[in-house]
Amino acid sequence: MSPSTPADDPREGPVLVVDFGAQYAQLIARRVREAHVYSEIVPHTATAAELAARRPAGIILSGGPKSVNEVPAPSIDPAVYDLGVPVLGICYGAQLVAQQLGGEVARTGRGEYGRTPLTVTAASPIFTDWPETAEVWMSHGDAITVVPDGFVATANCPDAPVAAFHHPERGIFGVQFHPEVVHTEHGRDLLERFLYDICHCPPSWTHTSIIESQVAAVRAQVGASPVLCALSGGVDSAVAAALVHKAIGEQLTCVYVDTGLMRANESEQVEETFRRQFHIDLVHVKAADRFFEALAGVTDPEQKRKIIGELFIRIFEEVARDLVVEKGHLDEEAPEDEPAGYLVQGTLYPDVIESGSGTAATIKSHHNVGGLPDDLAFDLVEPLRLLFKDEVRAVGEELGLPHEIVWRQPFPGPGLAVRIVGEVTPERAEILRAADAIVVEEVRKAGLYRELWQSFAVLPAVRTVGVMGDGRTYAYPIVIRAVTSDDAMTADWARLPYDLLERLSSRIINEVEGVNRVALDITSKPPGTIEWE
Ligand code: XMP
Repeated sequence: MSPSTPADDPREGPVLVVDFGAQYAQLIARRVREAHVYSEIVPHTATAAELAARRPAGIILSGGPKSVNEVPAPSIDPAVYDLGVPVLGICYGAQLVAQQLGGEVARTGRGEYGRTPLTVTAASPIFTDWPETAEVWMSHGDAITVVPDGFVATANCPDAPVAAFHHPERGIFGVQFHPEVVHTEHGRDLLERFLYDICHCPPSWTHTSIIESQVAAVRAQVGASPVLCALSGGVDSAVAAALVHKAIGEQLTCVYVDTGLMRANESEQVEETFRRQFHIDLVHVKAADRFFEALAGVTDPEQKRKIIGELFIRIFEEVARDLVVEKGHLDEEAPEDEPAGYLVQGTLYPDVIESGSGTAATIKSHHNVGGLPDDLAFDLVEPLRLLFKDEVRAVGEELGLPHEIVWRQPFPGPGLAVRIVGEVTPERAEILRAADAIVVEEVRKAGLYRELWQSFAVLPAVRTVGVMGDGRTYAYPIVIRAVTSDDAMTADWARLPYDLLERLSSRIINEVEGVNRVALDITSKPPGTIEWE
């Protein structure tokens, strides 16, 4: 493969990002998509033939937590280098290229972590837009000391004699630093040069093209059949519903179950957006009484989750059964090998990778509340299964969903119940909902809502003594929980400004009856979880 391959002969497949563990591959795949080129993550165990079958436009070998000198260290079928497809190795991926093609990677004892100056020492098509020196982000213990035969070193750093190397005729490039992180100056330029000039990818992966292709895919999948969608009020189900509605209009029925454990105004907003703005056929089930009845006297967190999950499913099934009668949503006469109906799910790409590749750690296995049992004879429609969260939000905006829904912070399936320590009663849910609404409003006013991963109120199961006016009070405290995070696997407690904390404290105590004290949770994850239960 030569970099001068004519641009009118692009490979039509994706850029494949090979995953060597941790979450390096996801960030690279997102950056490629930000350059409007479609990318997918594949496990490093895939064979060269399997990769070639995808007709990839390029292959990027990601970073990883291991050392190439460890035994065993994750590797890749060396036949990938002979596919005639351009290859870019990043960090661990670069060391692997060097090692597999006959160069040397040594444990120098001088690791490099963080920002470091990089000097470009030879012309390279991936450094087209680079000045002679630039700051790059490094994270490596080993260093490439000898490049493979036929390769040329093109850059160095104080502790990395070979910070970049290439074999332009074979279309193989390696960089020891991380072009995908924002701290690397010109990192984006480097990726764009690789994608546009070396792989000849057209920048055609846009939010409009995502919508068009998903609309066509949904139409092709469901034909004229009716489709159901469970709306939760969260971003993913909202965008999935709006996308499917664009594809099949009146064939879609959305079901929203109000458990009584939703945030303030959530139900009204779902009604307003989906029924009035989008004219979607919406079944709004007001089931708060049933949930509170089932939760009466229950204090164990797992028990609460189980009760809510099971009741949710039972209610959804009841609605689905009614719809069969009304609209023929489920064809019970259908032969067994034919789908009895379609159900929209807002599954995202990171969930697909986590359950599929086996390399990244499995997260959120307990977060299946609101999930539906296998024995419901639905075929799934998953219009977001190729998308990252930021793409889902962009698609949501493009479809005309309100900002409030598109940018909503994550909210757990069991709702406020996991933020009410002890028994969940309508009165306690009301106290928490009112306090939470103040937290959301003030955090938004302070301009911090999008910056924070989550910010909310928690209601503990204790009461404390206070004094208000002339009287002694004995009421609940509210705990404020605000965290920053990238993926909810780890989180840091947010350093909220004092004036915001002051407003929260005074507003919550003055405006929410039953509360006489406000505390702040300053626990990171680990050791704490984000939610209290
Ligand atoms: P934790 O509390 O485990 O939460 O640190 C990590 C992230 O997951 C959300 N979460 C849930 N989401 N169903 C969900 O859909 C659940 O049962 C659930 N429990 C926690 C939590 O809000 C945080 O973003």
